[in-house]
Amino acid sequence: MIKFTFSISHIAKVLILLSLIGLSGYAQKKTSIKPGELWPDNNGNHINAHGGGIIKLKDTYYWYGEEHRKLKDPHYRYVSCYTSKDLMNWTSQGTVLSMKEPDTILRNWVLERPKVFYNKKTNKFVMYMHVDGEIVGQGGDYLYAQVGIAVSDHATGPFTFIKCFRPFGHISRDIGQFIDDDGTAYLIFEDRPSKGFHIARLSGDYMNVEEDVCLIKSPLEGGAIVNYQGLYYAIGSALTGWVPNPNKYATATSLKGPWTEFKDIAPPETNTYNSQSTLLLKVIGDKQTTVVFLADQWKKEAVGDSRYLWMPVHIGDGRLWLPEPRPWSINVRTGDVKFLKKDIVKK
Ligand code: DGJ
Repeated sequence: MIKFTFSISHIAKVLILLSLIGLSGYAQKKTSIKPGELWPDNNGNHINAHGGGIIKLKDTYYWYGEEHRKLKDPHYRYVSCYTSKDLMNWTSQGTVLSMKEPDTILRNWVLERPKVFYNKKTNKFVMYMHVDGEIVGQGGDYLYAQVGIAVSDHATGPFTFIKCFRPFGHISRDIGQFIDDDGTAYLIFEDRPSKGFHIARLSGDYMNVEEDVCLIKSPLEGGAIVNYQGLYYAIGSALTGWVPNPNKYATATSLKGPWTEFKDIAPPETNTYNSQSTLLLKVIGDKQTTVVFLADQWKKEAVGDSRYLWMPVHIGDGRLWLPEPRPWSINVRTGDVKFLKKDIVKK
């Protein structure tokens, strides 16, 4: 009898504990990625890492992006970082860069599309970003058109601003990052006067660009590249500001080109399902390699509330196609992807 009472009270305690654990977050563990929806971090806040980039170190993914806040201090801009081991559940690491406008001639400045590279030789994390804004006396909202660099000893910062410059002297707006299978790091940057975008190999310490590998003569921004089965796929969006447009891709056997013509990655009337490219993430599992298209669904009037469209793409044999967005899950160990709803086949 005593034993029975003892067990009941234990069971009750266990049940209470389990429900508390459930309420405190374990039950909220995400088992899917829902393109276009609010994406709560470990604290329940929508992830604030727009125009982002991702690197993987050991078994952890680091997602850096624009952290948009209501401008309490109009001089500062911010970059956030989130970490994950499964690409679905993200833990906020807070603000990793707080930066004041880097130049006295800048007004109403913007810090966009931050991308972080880890340099094995120097053991430093090097952040590239698009720095832009008005120039005193000249106006214009995207006239400065430079690349900024910030550095940290740690993946989660704090990062210290180092310099702004124009790569090889060129005007630079949207930037992207590409790390090839051999570890070589490249900066992608849009160059309006040249009507195209560059693929620039970084210097040994990543503190500069060293080789202008290719200027792809196609006026695209939001540039991203992946190396899939020995073929390079480059994607980008047309130059329509915050308004979505049909993103396109081309392929080449060498980064130097020649590149094929650019083709749509999705039905053009969907305007890339209302999104704009920021990265192609390659997840190499022990069963399969999955390439994920990472994009922003911008809300111009409330950029911090913009949503993310992440979807695995159909890729291979020179073709890349973004399927209709729907919830999906990934096993980063195997590389396997599951869709929660069946592919919608159009007749
Ligand atoms: C499109 C770019 O891709 C964004 O990063 C941002 O710069 C907007 N233009 C601003 O209009």
